[in-house]
Amino acid sequence: MSLPSAPRIQPSILSADFVNMQAELERIASADGVHVDVMDNHFVPNLTFGPRMVERIQAVSPIPLDVHLMIADADRWAPGYAELGAFSVTFHAEAAAEPVALARRLREIGSRAGIALKPGTAVEPYLELLPEFDQLLIMTVEPGFGGQSFMADMMPKLRAARAAADAAGLDVWLQVDGGIALDTIGIAAEAGADTFVAGSAVYGAPDAEAAIAELRAAAAVHAH
Ligand code: DX5
Ligand code: ZN
Repeated sequence: MSLPSAPRIQPSILSADFVNMQAELERIASADGVHVDVMDNHFVPNLTFGPRMVERIQAVSPIPLDVHLMIADADRWAPGYAELGAFSVTFHAEAAAEPVALARRLREIGSRAGIALKPGTAVEPYLELLPEFDQLLIMTVEPGFGGQSFMADMMPKLRAARAAADAAGLDVWLQVDGGIALDTIGIAAEAGADTFVAGSAVYGAPDAEAAIAELRAAAAVHAH
């Protein structure tokens, strides 16, 4: 399978109509992946769905699944999502006891391995672990809810990650999630992001495919 090239746009189904998920997935068939937010009402205050729903999404989705686990005890639960066939599984650094061992397990099962950092978590301790990961997610909102404002003060974390990845010659995807829209995507791209999650900016638009194309074009202007 050839990998989608940057800039990659991954709409978040958190902003989709959960009761009509299959149709909602068809609306974003031109995107590079579907971002699937799993929340456990514990690691974050919100609750979405678990493995049975993700299994059905995997079965019907026209595009690869980028699973974002906002759940406690990732060491225990993340491998199950890789076993469902998800293209990529991202767990939170704050929720994993042994992130490197977990990343190796996810890759062994056949998924790409991602690690996510909440806004309050420094990136520096994770830079030396980048070779163990296929993706680093810098959250640009406090995880839990869609429709929040983009935190531009996360850009130094992205710049540090971009510099470390480039210096080491790593092809690790640098993903941003939270408040990504036409007026913010360029800021994140300029800081070094190459993979963009957008919930309300895509699902809130009358024409999701047009929104995806506009976001991709706006990110490309500032791409590294
Ligand atoms: C928030 C989720 C995001 C959310 C983004 O915790 O991780 O993926 O759907 O939504 P927007 O793009 O509306 O900020
Ligand atoms: Zn997310």
